[in-house]
Amino acid sequence: MSLIFLVKKDTFAFLSLQNYEKKPTFHICPLPVNENTTMLLFKKVELLQKHITWLKTKGLTIGFTPTMGALHSGHASLIQQSKSECNISVCSIFVNPTQFNEASDLEKYPRTIAKDIDLLASVKNDILFLPEVKEVYPPNLEEIQIQLGHLDKVMEGEHRPGHFQGVVQVVHRLLDIVQPHYLYMGQKDFQQFTIIQQMIEQTALNTILRVCPIKREADGLAMSSRNVRLLPEHRKLAVALSQCLAKAKEDYLHKTIEAIEQQAITTLSNIPDFKPEYFDIVDTKTLLPIKDKSKANGAVACTAVFAGEVRLIDNMILS
Ligand code: PAJ
Repeated sequence: MSLIFLVKKDTFAFLSLQNYEKKPTFHICPLPVNENTTMLLFKKVELLQKHITWLKTKGLTIGFTPTMGALHSGHASLIQQSKSECNISVCSIFVNPTQFNEASDLEKYPRTIAKDIDLLASVKNDILFLPEVKEVYPPNLEEIQIQLGHLDKVMEGEHRPGHFQGVVQVVHRLLDIVQPHYLYMGQKDFQQFTIIQQMIEQTALNTILRVCPIKREADGLAMSSRNVRLLPEHRKLAVALSQCLAKAKEDYLHKTIEAIEQQAITTLSNIPDFKPEYFDIVDTKTLLPIKDKSKANGAVACTAVFAGEVRLIDNMILS
């Protein structure tokens, strides 16, 4: 079990006096300090902001990784990237209710906070922000309006109406709280990071988005918090997603886009209990269908498939 500090009003005073200002020891709060103590835990926006402001006055760079918990090595890779580029790594765990379009999906979302803390400690994450809903969404909070055009109408947007509005609201709010120099997100959610990039460009948020590669299991399945819900037989068959994406990459230059998409949909539909929602090859910047391969910014194949009751998404850059 990892040891972390829960930062409350009195511990905040203690930390800023003792640990940071390097003033003489001043035990306001008897915290268990030892070499295993690696992380500060904040639940309140106000204290986190105070602390980050203080860190910034010391010239330290802040990297931020927002998550919904149930952490795995994919999340860990984002934090490691943040650690390698910034002085202080902040991770948030918040299961954001506004981005779930099915109440049952929100309910079933795995919550594994003790394990998450151990994983964060193992990659030496510095700060964990673990707010309650009322901290993230106080009653007077204004909704941010972003013009997403078709970016949130296709693929995930089409199948999960309102999902990206919820993601935009929460990421904007978290960025506003943390004010990081760098934001770390995964290529695993291709459409999500594209939309967040668009949001950053349209707002005054002064942060740089870093996109990290997809972490996969040994057989190629993209790591996801949802994988633990797969039935054992579906887990074995789920390798088909990355195989179809790899096949699309292989075929991209010598087959038509329609033929590649159709072949993938047929393969995925033929797996017992699997139902593909889409397998789309789109422009990496605009997310529009590619009419002329030579004029595209780049091509990415994105897919969403139900494996039994579990919805899996994956993607691969083709060119
Ligand atoms: P969550 O699904 O917890 O993912 C948090 C971050 O981890 C996202 O940027 C996601 O792309 C990245 N990630 C997930 N699986 C990955 C993998 N296998 N390899 C690399 N990175 C991976 O995405 C969300 O949470 C939420 O929508 C959030 C942005 C936190 C807003 O609520």
